[in-house]
Amino acid sequence: MWDYTDKVKEHFMNPRNVGEIVDANAVGEAGSLACGDQMKLMLKIDAHDVITDAKFQTFGCGSAVASASALTEMIIGKTLNEAAKITNRDIAEYLGGLPAEKMHCSVMGQEALEAAMQHYRGVTGEETAGRKKI
Ligand code: FES
Repeated sequence: MWDYTDKVKEHFMNPRNVGEIVDANAVGEAGSLACGDQMKLMLKIDAHDVITDAKFQTFGCGSAVASASALTEMIIGKTLNEAAKITNRDIAEYLGGLPAEKMHCSVMGQEALEAAMQHYRGVTGEETAGRKKI
């Protein structure tokens, strides 16, 4: 059995910002080649490039739910440039750590954020799903 921190368990049991932003102006989706799970992240970004709201939906494991929940807490109130600096390791650290076998779950959230920011900026880049960042 993997050893999860209390913060991971708490974010899994009480995830923040689950749901949909109907009028989101940035939407990013990512999937994990490691497990086949998926995540959708919706952002509301104001005229000053500040993320004023973030919500997620995922077909993912508990670590994915906790990572996405943490990510939304980390990015709300940040500018796009500040949010762009967040790595999946930052997400894991925010949660007090993730088991090595579950680090890929935090990558999915970070890649959904990247995809959402690309969408907002009008960039139609390559599919980022499954890129190794662990
Ligand atoms: Fe698929 Fe965690 S096992 S996201």
